[in-house]
Amino acid sequence: MAASDIHSAEDARRLAKRKLPWLIFDYIDGAAGTGHAEQRNRSTLADIQLQPRVLRDVEFRSVSRDVFGTISALPFGISPMGLCNLAWTSADRLLADAAAQHSIPLGVSTAASSSLEVQIQRAQGHAWFQLYFSGDIDGSLRLVERARVAGYETLVLTVDVPEVGRRPRELRRGFTMPFRIGPQQFLDFALHPQWSLSTLRGGRPDLANFGGEHGEFDRTRSRAGADWSVLQRLRDAWPGKLVVKGVLNTDDALQLQKAGVDAIQVSSHGGRQLDSAPPPILALGHIRRALGPDFPLFYDSGLRCGEDIVKAYALGADFVFLGRPLLYAIAAGREQGLKKLLETLSTETSIALAQLGLTSLDDCGPTSLIADSVTATGAPATPPRITP
Ligand SMILES: Cc1cc2nc3c(=O)[nH]c(=O)nc-3n(C[C@H](O)[C@H](O)[C@H](O)COP(=O)(O)O)c2cc1C
Repeated sequence: MAASDIHSAEDARRLAKRKLPWLIFDYIDGAAGTGHAEQRNRSTLADIQLQPRVLRDVEFRSVSRDVFGTISALPFGISPMGLCNLAWTSADRLLADAAAQHSIPLGVSTAASSSLEVQIQRAQGHAWFQLYFSGDIDGSLRLVERARVAGYETLVLTVDVPEVGRRPRELRRGFTMPFRIGPQQFLDFALHPQWSLSTLRGGRPDLANFGGEHGEFDRTRSRAGADWSVLQRLRDAWPGKLVVKGVLNTDDALQLQKAGVDAIQVSSHGGRQLDSAPPPILALGHIRRALGPDFPLFYDSGLRCGEDIVKAYALGADFVFLGRPLLYAIAAGREQGLKKLLETLSTETSIALAQLGLTSLDDCGPTSLIADSVTATGAPATPPRITP
């Protein structure tokens, strides 16, 4: 099986599972606890039905989006992910190249395996910096200032990781940064020589935003001290767009809107934080209703195909992001694998629009959904129509 065999995100996942050491696959694929939050969101997405319409002349369709004044050629961006180079030694570069090619936002994680300065250059400016509060506000503000100097105009503050979620699949494999290689990991790497040799050649992936003059970063360190005053200091310090990622509650969303953030990203961190989290695809509908039709609202978690993407727009998202599928595709087929998956998801989205009798994601709204299927899952039947 090769990149040309990727016809869906699930194909990419299957291939990645075969090619990656178990330790790495479980780091990428894993979720909090038993994986219920992740599965519940996936099954909720699957249960929501779309309303087909016919004979509406849908020959000319577009899946592009205006995101903060930039036209994104794809209907989704790249969610920030730490240590992407674990999927393949050049994963960060491939993601940045894709961001530049399609003018889509690349989320550059605090815990990235390439530095924030390198990534914004590679992405030709199409990069947003994602901040994990370090527990030390001055250290966080220094990092934010570094991002500003590097040219970032959008800062994404991730707020759903007061403590890193317990992810048993990672823990069982002995996933630590830097790697500790005991007999279990040695066997794992030996059985996946292609990955191991290329990682040896490319250099061990590391937390590239830290080390030397930039201090250390512990991915598992508590960030539990962050509160609304931290947000206010960030808001005061950051002149660009401020997005808050990881929101599932309408009261939180309303308070963030009042605090002057520029956008909210509804997300359950792909089910990696709280095993009992509600499906974020339903929270999206509730939050859209609470915030009104015009407030910029983004979404990530569990999107695996074009129809999922259309559902998120129909429930009120102004833009959406993908995480794991992009790393699966790179692990499965490097540059060609990523290219194939991006094309696949874009084509699937366009075909889904045609089936609904629509020519643009701007037209997705309550009438694109079978209301009964949404209420059966617990979401409001009629989220407001979005005017972009
Ligand atoms: C391997 C991996 C690392 C991640 N690292 C970060 C991170 O550093 N910062 C962050 O805000 N979210 C991080 N996330 C969460 C993603 O940004 C996103 O919320 C999630 O992956 C979306 O769900 P999906 O994978 O089902 O598309 C990570 C996710 C994965 C899979």
